Amino acid sequence: MGFPTIRPRRLRATPELRTLVRESTLTPKNFVYPMFFNAQIDAPCPISTMPGIHQFPVSAAREQAKAIKARGVNSVILFGLPKTKDDRGSSGLDPEGPVPLAIAEMKSAVPELVMMADVCVDEYTEHGHCGILKQRAKRDGGEWVVDNDATIEVLAEMSVVFANAGADVVAPSDMMDGRVGKIRMALDNAGYSDTCILSYAVKYASSFYGPFREAADCAPKFGDRAGYQMDPGNAREAIRESLLDEAEGADMLMVKPALAYLDIIRDVRKASVLPLGAYNVSGEYAMLHAAAARGMLDYKRAMMETLTSIRRAGADFILTYHALEAAELCG
Ligand code: PBG
Repeated sequence: MGFPTIRPRRLRATPELRTLVRESTLTPKNFVYPMFFNAQIDAPCPISTMPGIHQFPVSAAREQAKAIKARGVNSVILFGLPKTKDDRGSSGLDPEGPVPLAIAEMKSAVPELVMMADVCVDEYTEHGHCGILKQRAKRDGGEWVVDNDATIEVLAEMSVVFANAGADVVAPSDMMDGRVGKIRMALDNAGYSDTCILSYAVKYASSFYGPFREAADCAPKFGDRAGYQMDPGNAREAIRESLLDEAEGADMLMVKPALAYLDIIRDVRKASVLPLGAYNVSGEYAMLHAAAARGMLDYKRAMMETLTSIRRAGADFILTYHALEAAELCG
């Protein structure tokens, strides 16, 4: 009698059998491509820490939209680098700012593209923090901290500006408390009850955002973001943040970063039935490129394996700088 009788290898015998029983798959429709629009440039400008990724002038928006669509990718998320910055992020509310202008251009070039806009003041403030600052009382140490309630007013206003420009989805990435409810109310009051909110519900204070801070020129000038982004040691808190945002009216949730937080993606997947995204962030992208450039691994295989792992953990869609090149390799 043959032993063993149960042989999982039977299903691995041919590519066709393997495809038949594959549990987690990737298609270009699962990808959201992050893009940076810079009001101060008039030609695409490469980002040195993120090979293949550029800042674009608004004048390139139409052609980019068509190129993205041609690769089969349906969704983008936009970040802006404005002409001016102040302590309140006022340029983020400018309807003529890089993000609103790029949204309008891309939307008119490819109307079916899902246009997402990152909502946060860090790209628009001189100090680079994700909110309006206030000084603590001298007796409490006198340090500058982010004022939650003042910040969510600005985020709500910014969301209306982006919705007005044509954004289908606004995506607050600031980690202030109550911002999803505030944004929902502001959108509804302005007549944008169909604009979706994708909440960066679970965003950790992570070292993996390093290259992005060059890309979006938004590194905090003092201190760090640990006073508002989550502590990497916490998992239960991710569920708390997710359920709060769901109750406030979020249409979709996101976990960020992805790779060091695959367990969190799985936890949130189980705790909520909302569509779930994961952000394969700049540092994750840069790591693969750095290793591949030194011949340490096969870039394309490592990329597809990484993206598959994020889907397998439970993400419906992935925000990733790999979107366009991975789209070509999806079977
Ligand atoms: C904040 C924001 C950040 C990223 C997306 N939105 C940076 C931060 O919180 O410091 C990081 C994205 C990435 O690293 O790819 N507006």
